[in-house]
This record gives sequence, structure tokens and C-alpha cells, in this order.
Amino acid sequence: MTVLTHFNAPKSADTADAELAILQDANVGFRGQFIGAVLARTPEIAREAAALVHVEYEPEEHDARFRPDHPGLYAPEQVNAGFPTDTSSGDADAALADAAVVVDQTYSTPPEHNNPMEPHTTVAQWVGRTLTLYDSTQGAHTVRQTGAPVLGLDPADVHVISPHVGGGFGSKGMPHAHVVLAAPAAKCSNGRPVKFALTRQQMFSLAGYRTPTIARVRLAADDGGKLSAVVVDVVEQTSKIREFAEQTAVPSRMMCAAPNRRTTHRLAPLDIPVPSWMRAPGECPHMFGPEVAMDELAQACGVDPIELRIRNEPGIDPESGNRFGSRHLINYLRAGAGRFGWEQRNPRPRARTDKDWLIGMGVAASTYPFRRQPANAASVAFGNDGIYTVQIGAADIGTGTWTVQTQIAADALQVPVERIHLEIGDTALPQASVAGGSTGTASWGAAILAVAGAFRAQFGSNPVRGARAQAQGSANPDQEKFALHSFGAQFAQVRINADTGEIRVSRMLGVFSAGRIINPRTARSRFIGGMTMGIGMALHENSVMDPRFGIIVNHDFAEYHIPTNADIEDADAIWLEDHDEHAGPLGARGIGEIGIVGAAAAIANAAYNATGLRIRDLPLTADKFL
Ligand code: MOS
Repeated sequence: MTVLTHFNAPKSADTADAELAILQDANVGFRGQFIGAVLARTPEIAREAAALVHVEYEPEEHDARFRPDHPGLYAPEQVNAGFPTDTSSGDADAALADAAVVVDQTYSTPPEHNNPMEPHTTVAQWVGRTLTLYDSTQGAHTVRQTGAPVLGLDPADVHVISPHVGGGFGSKGMPHAHVVLAAPAAKCSNGRPVKFALTRQQMFSLAGYRTPTIARVRLAADDGGKLSAVVVDVVEQTSKIREFAEQTAVPSRMMCAAPNRRTTHRLAPLDIPVPSWMRAPGECPHMFGPEVAMDELAQACGVDPIELRIRNEPGIDPESGNRFGSRHLINYLRAGAGRFGWEQRNPRPRARTDKDWLIGMGVAASTYPFRRQPANAASVAFGNDGIYTVQIGAADIGTGTWTVQTQIAADALQVPVERIHLEIGDTALPQASVAGGSTGTASWGAAILAVAGAFRAQFGSNPVRGARAQAQGSANPDQEKFALHSFGAQFAQVRINADTGEIRVSRMLGVFSAGRIINPRTARSRFIGGMTMGIGMALHENSVMDPRFGIIVNHDFAEYHIPTNADIEDADAIWLEDHDEHAGPLGARGIGEIGIVGAAAAIANAAYNATGLRIRDLPLTADKFL
């Protein structure tokens, strides 16, 4: 048995990323951080031994209480994905002062934790200077690129294998501390592999989470609801040891045609675990506040919420001045309204009841940006068995990559899917980008199309055995010239018990666009999965921080609730066909994240329509309706 602590752990080659610089000194950045590891033959022995360790700490001043008036609030240099922290165009204050109607409200979303079914797990083994990691990750190449410098290794000496992954939702989009715990630990095991799996409880401190957000939203409009100003000021938390700046206000820069716009982001630095990506970072928390505010504006102006959005639909992207590649939000709102039976909605709250239940309907817009990652290569080899082996280091995190990339390859090589043998999830395969930002299908697919084209150009449709080609996916030139986003409309019907406040989502419909849909079955599942997670965000998910210690107290499935089958009564997703010429050779955009965006706002707006109570802080628990 071996015990590793900062006294004897190998020194990291690069400690710039403090989340990954564990066991390097005696300081503790937050409660729950790794301060040591026990290696033993079985997990039971290791856990028992770890529980026997007695640690003495010298307490230091610390602060784990998130609040909008935190004295340490600061403006980060930029927010995630490289967006400017603050933007301003026109004179929003003058527009607010002159407006016939103003909505000025504050909306908050709590910390939420990614909870993939499979915990984050790494098996590490050294053979000489070569490290092999079997890792549950959204990107084998990403783990190698990020991990190698920390471990002081040449990336060529790190082999990451991850063919099947039990979910991620962003928490496996980059390696977290467990990877750089397992790798040095395996150095101390006489060549035997070392396995480390986070417990569910540990995932609440060590695998990232969605930062809480507080958004003050101000809308200025004329009597008819035509917007003259949109102002969104966001405060969110970050860990003191590593900055994470969720891009929460960014979608307000392009959703509506308001001529005067201002957005800001401020961070409260706390002694807490490091926030990270969680399904649709930025768009997802953003589309709660402003989309509820739009509902409030519709109510204040006496305009239907769908009509209000139509009146404020921009012709071009207000921020860049570029044309939208494919917007059509009005079409989705109208199509959804027809299918959902929007005409049954009474705009007056509390107008519809069924025995003890108050019934309401709500709508919200949804959006997600489209990007295609250029850093992708793929290869095709033709074998003696008549099978085309297609290789790309892509990831399937339960999203259908195995199926969909096989289909793309079969189409491109013009052979039945049975003749495609796909290989993914391994750094030994051609370089691929992470399964994140809803970029996977289009980015990997572009590389597969490129290599299939190259293969057929060289070898035709009757290739010789052993024929082989490798090619690179292209960058997307339209990314600079057009505003590329997907849009959607979320509709919800809720019933709320007048006596108990119990809220149920009776019906939900999402109408989305994602360019060409390659596999309707996996696509529908992705959309509905996102909406289901949106129901969780609306009704259940809430990581409760104990501000004395900076630890999430409800750190298991008994107390951190996510929706189960009984919570989903009738959820449906449809899409309007839309081959997107600006998205690239496949005509497809991404579908992984748009399904969650706007879902909580639609449910909160439905809850208002049912009860007349405007709840501006998630989740919508029963107590808030009493
Ligand atoms: Mo997703 S949060 O971009 O993995």
C-alpha cells in the first residue's frame, strides 16, 4: 500500500492550471480538493485506509458565499469562448428613461452539477516513459494535449483510450484533477495499472459544475412591445484558484432587434470548487432571465408572447451586422404554436383550472451557436474482407457518434453501413476535436467526407485491398461572414396544485432547427434529452452550498434531484428541415445543447400563466407557489 501526499508526490511539470496542480504544496484551494491518495489492491482497502488518515489544517480566511454585492467582484478579461466581457451600443440608459414600458427584474439560477451516469474514471499504466490512460472523456486527444504538459511528457508518449463513455454533459470536456492523480500514482505501483473512479459525492467537488448566475435584465419598449433597449448585467461565481467566466449575457447581443444594447459580466471569486462547462454553458442560464423578462413585457403590453418576439425579430445580427446563416425563429414559434394548441392559452393568469390544479401554458425562444472545429482528420482503409475501416479520434458520450459517423461514412463511400468498420475514441487514431459545443457531428463528419472523397478520387469504387487515404476536415469560411446559430421554440404546459404548490410539466414541445438531420432517431433523443435536463433545471436541480465550508451539501442522488420517467409526462421534439449551406459539406449543425436552452423559461412562463406568480429564481419548487 502506498500513500501519496504533497510530501512525496512527483512534481508537476506545469502548475499554471491550479485545478490540475494537485499534491504540489500544502495549500488547500477548496474543501473537497485532493490532498492525498491511497493505493491499494482493492478500492475497499484504499477507502478504508484513506478514512484513517488524520489531517491537521491551519484555517485561513475564506469566503464561499455567493452574493451579487460581493466586494471582490471583478470583470474578467473576456468570457468563455473568447467573447468580450462587456458590450455596449447605442444609449441604453436614454432609451430606458424614455420608454413607455420598462421591465427591470433580477433572475437567478443556482449552481447545478453535471451528473453523467458513469462517474469520471481513469485507469493509468506506465510502460517505460509511455503512459496509457483509459479515461472516461469527451475527447481523447484533448486529454492528451492538456495532460501531457502537466505530467512533463511528450504528447506522443501519452496514449488515451475512451471508446465508450457513459455521459459527460461538459464535465468530461477537459481532464480534471483525477487524471493527474491517477497518472503519477501509477508510477508508484511497480508497473501495474492504477484505477481511480470518483464517487458520486466527489463529483460535486471535482468534476466542474454550472456556476450560479444572477442576471439583472432591463427591457425598454413602446406600448406595442417593440424593444428600444436590452440591458443584461450578470454576476456569477468563480473559484479563486482558477477563473471560469460563463458567457451568460452573450446571447442577448443577438436575440432581439433593440437598437440600444448593453451587456456586462462580473465574477465573484470564492474559495470553492472550480466551475466548468455544463450543457449549453452561457446560452442555457442566459435564456432563463431574458426569456422570462420577454414574457413579463408581453404581459405588461398586453401582447401575445409569440407576437412580441415576432415584433422584435432582427433582420441581421445586431452585433456583427452579418446576415444570419439560418434563423427562421418566427417559423418555429408559429409551427410550435399550431401543433401545441397555443390558441387554448388564456393570457389571463389563473384562468384555467382542472379540479385542484391550475393550468398554464408558456413559451420561450431557444438558440445555440454553430461552430465547426477544423482540427479533425480521418482515415479510410480498404481491407481483404471488403470492409472499409474508418478511423477518427472522435467520442461517443451516449450521443450516437458510433451510429451517425458510420452512416456519414457509408453515404460518402456509397456502400451499405455493414461495410463500414468505424474506430473512434483513441489517440492512436487521427486527431479529432472534443465532443463539446454541439460541434462533433458536423466537425468529425466533415473530415470523414473529406477522406471519403479523397479515397474515391484515388481508388474509385472498386479499390484494391490495402488502399488507404487520410485527409483533414476543412475550416468553415462562412463562420466569419455569417451569424451561424440554431434557433428553436420551447412550449410548456404545467399544472400546479392550488393547495400544495406541486408543479408538474404536463406537456412539452420543442421545435428546433439544426440544419440537415442525419439520423432522426438519435436526433430526437438528443433534443428530448436536452428538454428533460431543462425540466430538471426548471423543477429540481439546485446544488446547495454551505457557505461556512464551501461544500455542496446535497451531493448525491438522494438529495440532488434530476428528472426521472415519472417527471416526464408528454415531451416531444420536432424540427423543420433546413439543409444549411453555411454549415459545411454535411449541411448539418449541432443538436446536443439547444434542447436544454429556453426550457426552464418556458416552464416558468407557464407557471406564471397558471398561477399569476412570477418566479424569478430557479428551481420552481412547491414552496414558491404557496
Ligand atoms: Mo458541452 S457543455 O459543450 O460538453
